[in-house]
Amino acid sequence: MAVRIEPSILSADFASFASEIARIPSADLVHCDVMDGHFVPNLTFGLPMVRRLAQVSALPLDVHLMIDDPDRWAPGYAEAGAHTVTFHAEAATSPIATARAIRAAGARAGIALKPTTDAAPFLAAIDEFDQVLVMTVEPGFGGQSFMAELTAKVREVRSAIGDRDVWLQVDGGIGADTIAAAAAAGADTFVAGSAVFGQDDPDAAVQRLRALASR
Ligand code: DX5
Ligand code: ZN
Repeated sequence: MAVRIEPSILSADFASFASEIARIPSADLVHCDVMDGHFVPNLTFGLPMVRRLAQVSALPLDVHLMIDDPDRWAPGYAEAGAHTVTFHAEAATSPIATARAIRAAGARAGIALKPTTDAAPFLAAIDEFDQVLVMTVEPGFGGQSFMAELTAKVREVRSAIGDRDVWLQVDGGIGADTIAAAAAAGADTFVAGSAVFGQDDPDAAVQRLRALASR
């Protein structure tokens, strides 16, 4: 199974995103956490930042929308040049329509599930999505501890995906001590913030995580 490592710029230097992205050439995509201060109690950046990063980044962008009303805003991130746009199930009014709008705007569409959100209703419509994001912390902040009990949900999602080209992403507390457990449960796409940008050599950290996930 292909393994994708996505460093999260939430843990990078907010004044230097372009040069921070240039420090991780071994990464597959760059994970961009958009937070609105409403859906989660934290505020990061929005569409103008993503549009500009899409112009300057050598790596494709994976946008994780932690915002209210993604039905309204998500397609704009696809138009801005994101490779994948993932929105939260808990925030969406019409998740299937929103996923279709993201695809129509030229990006892959992802659905994100907070730790207590039931995956089953979305797995019943799995062909509408290109990525399922199983949050392994409560969304909002980097540097939290991996919730190991979420590996059960990862297994459930993997079983529903089967051999479809739907990426199974985990986000939150992924690092050298936890990535193998997430991979064994069936995840193939790994977000890591502090475990990459918290290191002196972030690209070496990416390579190490890839090796640990590939065993
Ligand atoms: C948290 C964000 C994550 C965050 C992960 O809500 O969605 O992407 O950057 O940070 P770490 O890897 O440090 O847990
Ligand atoms: Zn994220």
